[in-house]
Parts: sequence; C-alpha cells; structure tokens
Amino acid sequence: MPADPSGRPRRRAVCPGSFDPVTCGHLDIIERASAIYDEVVVGVLINKNKSGLFTVAERIEQLAEATAHLPNVVIDSFGGLLVDYCRRHDIPVAVKGLRAVSDFDYELQMAQMNHGLAEVETLFMATNPLYSFLSSSLVKEVATYGGDVSKLVPAGVYRRLTERLAQTRVD
Ligand code: PNS
Repeated sequence: MPADPSGRPRRRAVCPGSFDPVTCGHLDIIERASAIYDEVVVGVLINKNKSGLFTVAERIEQLAEATAHLPNVVIDSFGGLLVDYCRRHDIPVAVKGLRAVSDFDYELQMAQMNHGLAEVETLFMATNPLYSFLSSSLVKEVATYGGDVSKLVPAGVYRRLTERLAQTRVD
C-alpha cells in the first residue's frame, strides 16, 4: 500500500461503473467514499460489447467536471476484470451503492467473486433514499421522451445529455 509523506499508509478505493452517464446517485456515493478514503479512483468500464450514449472519454470528462470539488478523487477507465485493475493499482477495496434489495443479489455475487479471485473487498453503501429509484438507463429513457431529469444528473451532464439527444432524436 503506498504511503503518504508521514509514512501512514494511504487508504484507496475504487468506485467502478459504466457511468453512461454519471447520475446524482453515483455522485453521492463518490462524495461519501471520498470522505472515508484518502484517494478514490472512479473507474469507468470500457465495454467493447456495448456502445453507450456517451463514449468513455466523454464519461471521463463528465465525471472529472462533476467531481472537481473533490481533490482526492481521480477518474480513470479500465477494461477486463475489476480485480486485475485493482491488483495493478494496488487498490484493496471497491465501493458500491446499494439502491434496494433488488441490487443485492447480483452485487453480492460480484463481491464474493472479486474476493475469491483477488481478495478485493467490497464496501456497500446504502444509496441516499432521494436517489434510490435512479439509474443511468432510466435517466436516458425519461430524457429521450422529454421528461425532466435536470435534478437527477449533474448540471454539465444535463446539458450534454440534452444536446446528445437532440442530435439523435428521430420523432
Ligand atoms: O454501472 P454498472 O454497469 O452497474 O457497473 C458494473 C461494473 C462495471 C461494476 C461491473 O460490471 C464490473 O466490475 N465489470 C468489470 C468486469 C468484471 O470484473 N467482471 C466480473 C465481476 S465479478
């Protein structure tokens, strides 16, 4: 584990996800993780089998803007297994938000797999109830049909989402 100048080990965690786009629910988890860990790496998954509304580079830009007030948060991307990324960067913990019991089954499987593969721990954070219904997919769907998502995503994301959907709209 890397040390800070005083020799104390720096506690690091990764917040992994697709972030297509980042929502206020994601941001809430990132902010709370940044209050616990010395450094939080937001890891954007590069998924070659799934093209998103935003490219990985665009998502990174949106995340960097939305977390600019958090000096201990860095944004990165990764392909392949999360545990391999954690091993390469010496990150022992993944922080995940749990919105509801329905999230738990799959998250538990992934947490157990990641621990079994490389002893990467998972810290589950209860999502702020304000955002427990929120997902990137739902934001995109509602925005596509003209619903107001301005309170559900960071301001910069809202602007880019509106622009992108206007370009792709086929009424
Ligand atoms: O925002 P998402 O799409 O729900 O995030 C899912 C993510 C990226 C956290 C998960 O799919 C993941 O960790 N993918 C990396 C590939 C991997 O490690 N798969 C095995 C998981 S046990």
